[in-house]
Amino acid sequence: MRLFVALQIASEVRESLAALIAEFRPLAAKLKWVRADNLHLTLKFIGETESMKLDAIRMALGELRSSNPVELQVRGLGFFPNARWPRVFWAGVQASDNLAALAADLDAACATLGFAREKHPYSPHLTLARLESTHPTGALRDAIERNAAREFGSFRASQFHLIESKLKPVGAEYTTVQSFPFVSES
Ligand code: 2AM
Repeated sequence: MRLFVALQIASEVRESLAALIAEFRPLAAKLKWVRADNLHLTLKFIGETESMKLDAIRMALGELRSSNPVELQVRGLGFFPNARWPRVFWAGVQASDNLAALAADLDAACATLGFAREKHPYSPHLTLARLESTHPTGALRDAIERNAAREFGSFRASQFHLIESKLKPVGAEYTTVQSFPFVSES
């Protein structure tokens, strides 16, 4: 099974991102646009996993805590790894410091179970489309420039989710395996 850990997005934010996708899709129909109900904020991509490891993963994730919910603001648009050779078109995420701390704790917890450590620093983003070998059109680039500071809303999260991804010809199908509240009770 292919697993990752993510935060769910508040429904108002999901709706504003869905509106943006509906607006932008006609400008770049060749991109692989993410379905609005699949939008999520990845904290850790675990990858292909033997199902016998699932219980150990659940136990490890269940130990992770933060003293407060994560505060998130979704704002701005951009490309990874850069605008010249884009692979991912994203909406930006500004978050309280405990988001990066949780991502680091997840990375460390997964490393103890034998999963590869992240090579790059954690960079929170919401993937809106994947480009593969296509290149963004001028119309898409212009629209991104006009919307560079667009706000998609704020929300807070107090649980993360272990999600199974099944790759289908029509796009990824995500199923939540388990949800983990992470705010310590005092
Ligand atoms: P992305 O949105 O930047 O592509 C499920 O595939 C989630 O895990 C996606 O949000 C994806 O991030 C993330 N992810 C991180 N590393 C990945 C990898 N090596 N392969 C596939 N997905 C990865």
